[in-house]
Amino acid sequence: MLKLRLRQAAPVALVAMLLLTLSACGLTEYPNTTFHHNTEFNSAVDALFDRLVFWGTIVFVVVEVALVVTIIKFRKRPGGPAAKPIHGNAALEITWTVIPALILVLIAIPTVKTIFETQAEAPAGAIKVEVIGHQWWWEFRYPELGVVTANELYLPVGRTAAFELKTKDVLHSFWIPQMGGKRDLITNKTNHLWFTPSADLPSSAWNGFCAEYCGSSHANMKFRLYTVQPDEFESWARHQASPAVFSATPAPATPVIPAAQVTVADSAASVAAPTAGYAFPKDRLEAEFPHVIPQTPIPAGITFDDALLAGGDPVKGATEGFLLGGCIGCHAISGVPGAVSEIGPNLTHLASRHTIAGGLYRNDAPTLARWIKNARHLKPGSIMNTIGKGEYDPILKTTNTMGLDDRQIADVVAYLMALK
Ligand code: CUA
Repeated sequence: MLKLRLRQAAPVALVAMLLLTLSACGLTEYPNTTFHHNTEFNSAVDALFDRLVFWGTIVFVVVEVALVVTIIKFRKRPGGPAAKPIHGNAALEITWTVIPALILVLIAIPTVKTIFETQAEAPAGAIKVEVIGHQWWWEFRYPELGVVTANELYLPVGRTAAFELKTKDVLHSFWIPQMGGKRDLITNKTNHLWFTPSADLPSSAWNGFCAEYCGSSHANMKFRLYTVQPDEFESWARHQASPAVFSATPAPATPVIPAAQVTVADSAASVAAPTAGYAFPKDRLEAEFPHVIPQTPIPAGITFDDALLAGGDPVKGATEGFLLGGCIGCHAISGVPGAVSEIGPNLTHLASRHTIAGGLYRNDAPTLARWIKNARHLKPGSIMNTIGKGEYDPILKTTNTMGLDDRQIADVVAYLMALK
């Protein structure tokens, strides 16, 4: 009775498993899957994968059928003859050596061909992007366009992007699963990678990752890619290449930053919104690409008086905060004299980005304030100094007695949030 039930149940279980497996193939549910044909790179890798699965399936079926048939046909029967040991069967041994060798050749040829194709020089007319890995964030430079940005990469659809992959410190690996890669960033070496986002793609947002263990915040070293229409890209790049624009009111007597770059208002600072270039619309991210929006909660144990943010003074933030508070030691802002350091992310158009801290947090005033106050509390191992006065520095294991208070940090946040 039990035997019969098992026999009936087996096919049902098999069909159920197959259906479950097939249902897992819905691509929309898995926004970070690599099985897409968004680029020629992914198409080539997918074709190779299909071929490997095809041959692997044939081998599996043949081997398993032979195994099951053998087990049943030659099983020990009561009263049957004793098994006879045999030694050597030249025909059989040659067959089971030649067949796997042929299968390996069938796999090796397309594999090596794909490796050479994807390692070849990028086609002419590709847009050049330098990718520089840092512990733990991404720097993106477009040398032909004069753009330097961090953690958010923009590419026009229909045009090949040729990446030069470098690292400032340890090994990292650049990977946007839906576009292709991954490829390592190797110390003292430049690696290359190229792919072309399909011209048919609507403007879209994708996740990028560091795929090589690189220290305590390896898992926090993410980035975003926005594949946008050529005119949107052009608008974005033109704006990103321009110096920081801040305020439109006339300069007072003694500006700390020359008036040509930053025009400082006399009392209540007014920050005019500059003519912004294209940035991927936030509402579209929320509606269509929720998987690219950081969900990391702020760790417990950090407080900030958010009420101060509404009254942040961007002028004081620029002068007393950014310049005198020490930010200038690590961060560049194009157009601000002296702000040229490349240690931390370039902040020229920080407010046009949707994320901060290597894609770990959303870029909004409350988060930015806490980040400035105690970055190392928010991201293990961060080299960004603990700026908040009275904050405990988890790396130095001391309390910062100098630093900026919440009021001053609110001013810096007001300044940075004005850098559209
Ligand atoms: Cu960079 Cu892992």
